[in-house]
Amino acid sequence: MHQYSLADAMTEKGNFTLPKPSESNMGFGVLGVFLGLLLEVSTHGPHAVPRTSWRHQDLDLMEFSEPEIFNYSTLLLSEKRDALYVGAREAVFELSKKNVTVKYNKAQWTVAEKPMMMCTQKGKSKERDCLNYIRVLQVVDDERLYVCGTHAFQPQCDYLKLADFSLDGRPEDGRGKCSFDPSQSFTTVMVDGELYSGTAYNFLGSEPIISRYSPSQSLLRTEYSTSWLNEPSFVFADVIGDGGNRVDGEDDKIYYFFTEVSVEYEFFGKLLIPRVARVCKGDLGGQRTLQKKWTSFLKAKLVCSMPELNFVFNVVHDVFILKGADWRDTVIYGVFTSQWGNVGLSAVCAYNMTAVEEVFSKGKFMQKATVGHSHTKWVRDNGVTPSPRPGACINNLMRRQNISSSLHLPDKTLQFVKDHPLLEDPVLPIGNGPRLITKDVNYTQIVVERVRALDGNIYDVIFTGTDKGVLHKSVVYEGDVHIVEEIQLLKNSESIKNLLLSSETRSLYAGSDSGVVQSPTAFCGRYAPCADCVLSRDPYCAWDPQAAACVNIFDALSQSELIQSLNGDASKCPTVVSPSQNFRRVAVKPGSSAELPCLGHSNLAQVMWKANDSALTEASRFHLIGENGLLIYSVAPEDQGRYECWSVEWAPAAGKNFSRLLAGYVLALDLPPPPPPPRQATFAAEAGEGRPSVRAAKSNGETDGALLTPGLAPPSFTAAVRLTSPPQTDSSLTPPPSSSTTKFQPKQRLPPSADAPPPESRDPAAEYLQHNNSTALLFLFLLFFLLFLAALAYNCYMQYLPAPCLRLRAALLGSHKSANQATYLACEAGLMESAAVGVGEKIHMTEAPTRNGGQAAQSLRALRDTGYETEPECGNGQIPSRPPAGDSPSQEKPFDVDCEFQPIEFADADETPSC
Ligand SMILES: *[C@@H]1O[C@H](CO)[C@@H](O)[C@H](O)[C@H]1NC(C)=O
Ligand SMILES: *[C@@H]1O[C@H](CO)[C@@H](O)[C@H](O)[C@H]1NC(C)=O
Ligand SMILES: *[C@@H]1O[C@H](CO)[C@@H](O)[C@H](O)[C@H]1NC(C)=O
Ligand SMILES: *[C@@H]1O[C@H](CO)[C@@H](O)[C@H](O)[C@H]1NC(C)=O
Ligand SMILES: *[C@@H]1O[C@H](CO)[C@@H](O)[C@H](O)[C@H]1NC(C)=O
Ligand SMILES: *[C@@H]1O[C@H](CO)[C@@H](O)[C@H](O)[C@H]1NC(C)=O
Repeated sequence: MHQYSLADAMTEKGNFTLPKPSESNMGFGVLGVFLGLLLEVSTHGPHAVPRTSWRHQDLDLMEFSEPEIFNYSTLLLSEKRDALYVGAREAVFELSKKNVTVKYNKAQWTVAEKPMMMCTQKGKSKERDCLNYIRVLQVVDDERLYVCGTHAFQPQCDYLKLADFSLDGRPEDGRGKCSFDPSQSFTTVMVDGELYSGTAYNFLGSEPIISRYSPSQSLLRTEYSTSWLNEPSFVFADVIGDGGNRVDGEDDKIYYFFTEVSVEYEFFGKLLIPRVARVCKGDLGGQRTLQKKWTSFLKAKLVCSMPELNFVFNVVHDVFILKGADWRDTVIYGVFTSQWGNVGLSAVCAYNMTAVEEVFSKGKFMQKATVGHSHTKWVRDNGVTPSPRPGACINNLMRRQNISSSLHLPDKTLQFVKDHPLLEDPVLPIGNGPRLITKDVNYTQIVVERVRALDGNIYDVIFTGTDKGVLHKSVVYEGDVHIVEEIQLLKNSESIKNLLLSSETRSLYAGSDSGVVQSPTAFCGRYAPCADCVLSRDPYCAWDPQAAACVNIFDALSQSELIQSLNGDASKCPTVVSPSQNFRRVAVKPGSSAELPCLGHSNLAQVMWKANDSALTEASRFHLIGENGLLIYSVAPEDQGRYECWSVEWAPAAGKNFSRLLAGYVLALDLPPPPPPPRQATFAAEAGEGRPSVRAAKSNGETDGALLTPGLAPPSFTAAVRLTSPPQTDSSLTPPPSSSTTKFQPKQRLPPSADAPPPESRDPAAEYLQHNNSTALLFLFLLFFLLFLAALAYNCYMQYLPAPCLRLRAALLGSHKSANQATYLACEAGLMESAAVGVGEKIHMTEAPTRNGGQAAQSLRALRDTGYETEPECGNGQIPSRPPAGDSPSQEKPFDVDCEFQPIEFADADETPSC
């Protein structure tokens, strides 16, 4: 057995290649370690739960889309105008950034017949590929935008005049600026009128390129070599620097972020690696060596891992650069997942700009060494590094040596950087681990805003968008992450393709395939009362005691009175006088049931019901329903009294529990009218006096409450409520829950109209008991027993139950499944495991529920609950060979496969790869 952990190999310096006694063996060994880790991490790894969940329909978000227009994936905020520019399929829009529902302008850019024909002749689809997907929108000057589109796999760029919002109509070649394939990853940034791109340079998408285009110079680009770029997926690029005002006279740099196939690790299949690469803004290429190529291209590995669990997040999906006043204060935020998407973990790592610079300016180089005949591997270069340092930007020191531009760099330096673009030293995250790890989500986008809270400290608020249209808002407080809220930004469950933030409008803009959505950065007004506002721990929000409202601190005229505590210490809130006079009076008929609603929206709080100031413990007659409401079954005189719904929220940062009253009721029996109808009077008397016997009957029968519970409350609530006794039957056995109490009454006893029950309608159970009819009891028992048997059989048939039942099932139905016997056996273990996990989870939740059962929380949770535990993959062995999300195009590159291990050293840019 091999003891190597890939994580060690990837983080530990000096050990780059995993020893390879026998390639396939080793691959599986590492794979085994990995899969073990995945399981461990997904079950034991740290992960956070959003405190509040907002459904799309609860929020009045501003949305924009036009019929027949899709793929609103390119967004550009104008700093000078009130404009959000949106690049979609065959159209560019100018929207108001204050309100994206307001459209100022639209420009269309369709594909003419001839290029369309050429595209379809090359085997591309007319409806999907051979359209013009606008992918580049950059500001040139106050009057013009630079726009590029895929243009039927023949990328083109043009200028868009803002005055009349029309295209120049003189398209330029877009090769190297925009991707050919609309689904291929790609990035651009405009710096001082020059367009920096990371994309593919050919039709097949097999020739990656990082280039700079400027109208006055020729294209500067990367070598076409796997040691420079190896099947990269570009995610982001931006310039970082002081605008050329650095003391050492060093240039600004353009940083690129991408995921590529590693060259330095040997692995079963393709091992992906997140990278940061950089080029100098002033680079002009070399004089003889590296003509029209970058002389400053260097790249390093980005590390985002959990060292304590040996788990590596090796795919970067998006990067946000949080720029400070000084370039040294810049923090780079990235969202990562693992190459093995089914783990369902996403992480956010942050990098210190100083540390990044350090790696590029001082890091050791790696070099390719040939082992045996053809096998190459990458090792640390221990030779003498030429001077000036290869890849360094021109600075004052070089200028003193008469090297004032890259054209003057000595050949030795240039030849070295050409062969050694990869640095050995990795870029480690701040704190050596992720800022944030979330389970069961795939983050696709990230933006960060720095907020000065009322405590005077600065907090980085992290907004992450998922592939299901959900936005998470998180804040790091003293090293611990708190997810303030999750917001269903998009109506449909689709990926957030682009996310922008404007501090000016205090809005987020999300682009997706179906439209653009604008959302405020905070929903302070929705938090009430004070305790909820403070417990939300939202740096944007504070409680205004004067207005008795939760307000955005940037809206407040004066911040002095506001109450905010980012550790969630709600004891700073003014003490609420117990508003017992506000208790709602609820009158019910004896023997019928009472429903007391209670709404609270914190997923971190537990709901506790109190009756007459003591916590409800008796399970049989009390059930939580709906959003923590209380259902009292068969109300008796001693059930009268004060009922209070309390939310108990644990604020870990404050180290305290905070309880607050969510709802209060005074429950009273509706006494019979003065001249009572004879039957009613008897009943009331009997129900009152005969109560002890009723109790006795119930405790004998015991099944009453327990069996009804699953029918009345959704399964999750049986787990979330402490006062409910553990259900005797598996709640998942019951058919879909009905929330109304009247619906569950046995049909044969139900009055004709359930909506308008006649006055003498009462609880069926009470009626049975009133007659003290043992036949009825027996009948009831038989009915439930039959139901139980049916449910058992059904679940067994549906394979919900573990092994013994499965074997029985296999024996009964096995004949036509014999061909799949092996698969079945392999899956059995997985099923048993998942059953065990399921049970464990339930028990855990019964003891210490962490989340209430709000409908919103539920629906959002449904999105999350698709992770590893609930859907064991029986085909795990094949998963690692699958590329991650968004990387599918690289899988389809037809000619790349053979090029992989043959370095194409000096091949020049051609339409077809030359291997
Ligand atoms: C464009 O949008 C359509 C419709 O939502 C979607 O099916 C397609 O995958 C999108 N294409 C790209 C390249 O994003
Ligand atoms: C980055 O690192 C430098 C040097 O170690 C330190 O001075 C600076 O405060 C760090 N910045 C951040 C944002 O952590
Ligand atoms: C730089 O160039 C100047 C004039 O061309 C020359 O006098 C000087 O010696 C050179 N310095 C170095 C370090 O080569
Ligand atoms: C995340 O993405 C992967 C790969 O596309 C997919 O298999 C997985 O189901 C997704 N997970 C969630 C929770 O959406
Ligand atoms: C509440 O107190 C009243 C009067 O003290 C009593 O009659 C009633 O039974 C109590 N209710 C509960 C649910 O304990
Ligand atoms: C906080 O409340 C929870 C649930 O009521 C309880 O389990 C926990 O012990 C309490 N913690 C403290 C410190 O009081």
